[in-house]
Amino acid sequence: MIGRLNHVAIAVRDLKAATAVYRDTLGAEVSEPDAIPEHGVTVVFVSLPNTKIELLEPLGADSPIAKFLDRNPDGGIHHVCYEVDDIHAARERLIATGAKVLGSGEPRIGAHGKPVIFLHPKDFCGTLVELEQA
Ligand code: CO
Repeated sequence: MIGRLNHVAIAVRDLKAATAVYRDTLGAEVSEPDAIPEHGVTVVFVSLPNTKIELLEPLGADSPIAKFLDRNPDGGIHHVCYEVDDIHAARERLIATGAKVLGSGEPRIGAHGKPVIFLHPKDFCGTLVELEQA
């Protein structure tokens, strides 16, 4: 069911510093910051030949990233995102297996303008999983 790895998201406290690490130390192409208030993050995209890395900085008081950074003060991998051909079919299949879809369970528009859902880490080897409509 899952297809390409769309991105790996890394939570960071300081987006400027993280951008410098990826751009200057690792020599990657990094986008300009994009504030996404409805998701409580500011994001930059790191373009790699085979996938993307998203660096997420908390935005706003109730950012979902803030709690993660409380537990992981140095930052860390927050989620992985896999592409699926049909987000609704994927959701039905996962619910049928007993997996927990976070939030209302309805796909929301994600950082790339496409519908996404998030799956609870306890069902997926301790890793928050995002599925994005391909
Ligand atoms: Co993501």
